[in-house]
Amino acid sequence: MVNNSVPLLVATGLCKSFGGIKAVYEANIEVNKGSITGLIGPNGAGKTTLFNLLSNFIRPDKGRVIFDGEPIQHLQSYQIAQQGLVRTFQVARTLSRLSVLDNMLLAAQKQTGENFWQVQLQPHIVAKEEKQLQERAMVLLESVGLAKKAYDYAGSLSGGQRKLLEMGRALMTNPKLILLDEPAAGVNPRLIDDICDRIVAWNRQEGMTFLIIEHNMDVIMSLCDRVWVLAEGQNLADGPPAQIQTNQKVLEAYLGK
Ligand SMILES: Nc1ncnc2c1ncn2[C@@H]1O[C@H](COP(=O)(O)OP(=O)(O)O)[C@@H](O)[C@H]1O
Ligand SMILES: [Mg+2]
Repeated sequence: MVNNSVPLLVATGLCKSFGGIKAVYEANIEVNKGSITGLIGPNGAGKTTLFNLLSNFIRPDKGRVIFDGEPIQHLQSYQIAQQGLVRTFQVARTLSRLSVLDNMLLAAQKQTGENFWQVQLQPHIVAKEEKQLQERAMVLLESVGLAKKAYDYAGSLSGGQRKLLEMGRALMTNPKLILLDEPAAGVNPRLIDDICDRIVAWNRQEGMTFLIIEHNMDVIMSLCDRVWVLAEGQNLADGPPAQIQTNQKVLEAYLGK
């Protein structure tokens, strides 16, 4: 069983302004190890900016981020990813002139094949590793419903399929924590249930922790152990989904008062 009370990610007092706009102001968030945590809030609440701050795609004006017991805000995004914290983008970023499968393989880290001398001296190990990576990539593509597209250009995918590919790419790195920015947006409704089932399986079987921004409340309510609510860049509430769903302040924020 997962221990839901050990924090994996703790961010405190995060602030980021763009010109005069306080996109995120003194925001806190906590994600427990083994949990599926939700992040919700009206459009423009600062959710994506908060993801950018957590993964250091944007530097905070102020605040602290602790991941797996270590401060990470001084690290570059790629170093944070190497520590096991990866994120997907609200608008998927895939390499359209590569195949779907190559997009997956490129995401894999620490391949022996990246080291010139290893390739020269131990070609059999490199070949074996490549085969294992290909197998993992195909299993993951299967699970996000893209196996049949493995050899198509990523550029030929729909917006929703690109989001699925991005999720697959994130999983290739075998991360401890995945930040998903609106995974269901633009995805064929028939696939959404599948994706949810997958997220639960990765969580329960592989012990992966998730932080998910999503507007689809069914997705949030069915998946999440705990939900954080942002409004106008600030924390509005946090708690179990059933409590959040009936929280008066949250309802008002969504209705725009
Ligand atoms: N790069 C940027 N430059 C200027 N303003 C930005 C930038 N990114 C976000 N914002 C502003 O910050 C606020 C929060 O945006 P965002 O984090 O995208 O919200 P959400 O993801 O909750 O919809 C919005 O007012 C948005 O216009
Ligand atoms: Mg957003």
